[in-house]
Amino acid sequence: MKASNSPNIPNSLNEHWMPFTANKDFKKKPRLITNAKGVYLSTHEGTTLIDGSSGLYCNPLGHGRKEIIDAIKNQLEKLDFTMPFQQGYGGSFELASKIAQKTPEDLNRIFYTICGSTAVETAIKISIAYFRAKGDSTRFRFVGRERGYHGMNIGALTVGGMVNNIKPFTSILMPGVQHMRHTFLPDHKFVKGQPETGAELADDLERITKNFGAENIAACIVEPIAGSTGTLIPPKGYLQRLRKICDRHGILLIFDEVVTGWGRTGSAFASQEFGVTPDIITMAKATTNGIVPMGVVAVREKIYNEIMEATPDGGIELFHGYTYSGIPVAVSAALAVQEIFEKDDIFNKVKSMSNYFQEGLHSLKDLDCIESIRNYGLLGGIDIAMRDKPGKSGYQVYKECYNAGLNLKPTGDALIIAPPFICEKKHLDEIFDKLRIGIKSFMKNS
Ligand SMILES: Cc1ncc(COP(=O)(O)O)c(C=O)c1O
Repeated sequence: MKASNSPNIPNSLNEHWMPFTANKDFKKKPRLITNAKGVYLSTHEGTTLIDGSSGLYCNPLGHGRKEIIDAIKNQLEKLDFTMPFQQGYGGSFELASKIAQKTPEDLNRIFYTICGSTAVETAIKISIAYFRAKGDSTRFRFVGRERGYHGMNIGALTVGGMVNNIKPFTSILMPGVQHMRHTFLPDHKFVKGQPETGAELADDLERITKNFGAENIAACIVEPIAGSTGTLIPPKGYLQRLRKICDRHGILLIFDEVVTGWGRTGSAFASQEFGVTPDIITMAKATTNGIVPMGVVAVREKIYNEIMEATPDGGIELFHGYTYSGIPVAVSAALAVQEIFEKDDIFNKVKSMSNYFQEGLHSLKDLDCIESIRNYGLLGGIDIAMRDKPGKSGYQVYKECYNAGLNLKPTGDALIIAPPFICEKKHLDEIFDKLRIGIKSFMKNS
C-alpha cells in the first residue's frame, strides 16, 4: 500500500503492524509525525499539532530538549553499552541515589527495568521474593482494581482491569488475582479534584482478605490516579484506607506511578501529593522524558534487606533482570531530566498551573456530548457519550481534534489530557480551544 506521493510518507505502510492501532483504518489515511519541538508536533501533511497528552504522558519537558540530547550524545561517545549483570557503570548508581532522594520515606532501593510493564512485573516478583525470603511463601495472591492499567505482559495485564486487553488472553492469566471495584461513582461526574465520596470502596480489599485469607495475599497494586481509563481521581481518604488495610494484614502496597510519577500531580510522586506511602513504586515514561525506554522500581529498604539477607554472600539474591536494565543511554537521559526538574523547579510549576488547567478543562462542560470531566494536577479526563458501540465516539473525537491541530490520547470513549509541564497559559488556552473545535466537529459530523 502506497499512501501518497508525499516525501514524508514511506513507500510501503504494509509491513509495520502498529500497536494498539486500528491498522486498516490508519493505513487508509495515515497520521505521521515528522518533527517535534517544545510543545508542538509537525505532521507529514505540513500541519502543526499542539501536544495535549505529552505523547503518551511521556514528554512533560517538551520535545527536542538540547540538554537531554547532549547528555545522550556524550554518553554514546564515551560508553554506549555495558552488560548490566555482575558488572556495572557509575551512572546507574548516581541516578539511583538521585531517584532515592525524591521518593518518599525509605523507598530508596532502585531496580531498573525497560518500561512500565516490566516495572510492574518486577514489583510483582519482588513482592513474592520478599515473602519467600521471610519464609512466608503462602503469600502469592495479588489484588488489583477494575479500570486499572499496568501494562501488557502477563503479570501486569492480570492485575490490570481493562476488559478489552484482558478478554482475549483469559486462558493464560496469572493465577490468584482478585480485583477491587474502580473508584468512579456517578456523583463524581463533574467534580474538580478529589471527590468527597467513595473512600469506603477501599474496603473491597478487606472483603478479599476475608474471602481468600490475608495470609495468602502478597500485595495490592493500584495507580493512585487511574490514568489510562480516563483519569479517575481517588476519593478523599481512599488511599489512606487502603494503606491501613494493608498494614493490618501485612500486605504490601504497590503504587504504579508510571503516569503520576515525576510531577504530574504537582509533587514528585502522587504518594507525596496524597500523603500515603506505599511499599513499592513503579515509574517509567517521564523518567527519561520518554526519549529512551526505561522503567524503575523503588522499593523500601527493609524489603531489599530481607531479600539480600536470605542469600549467602556470593549468590545472586534475585534471579531477575533485563538486558537493558539501566543501560547507559537511558541513564544519561534520566540524569539530564533530573537536572531539569531541579533547575526549572518543575514540580512547583505544575502546581502553579493546576488551577488554570482545571478551570479551562471544566469550561468545556457546556458541550452536550460530554458526560464527565475529571482532573488533578496537569492531568484530565473527559468522557464522551457513547454512540453505536464503545470506543467509536472517542476515536472520532480524537481524529477531529487531530484535524483541528491537537494531539491527545483517547481510551475507549474517554479523552486524556496531559499537557507538557512547560506549557504556559497560552498553550493551555490553545489546547482547550482546539478541543472545543474538535468536539464540535464531532457533534456536527456524527
Ligand atoms: C500506570 C501504567 N502502568 C504501566 C504502564 C505500561 O507501561 P509501558 O507501556 O511502558 O510498558 C502504563 C502505560 O501507559 C501505565 O499507564
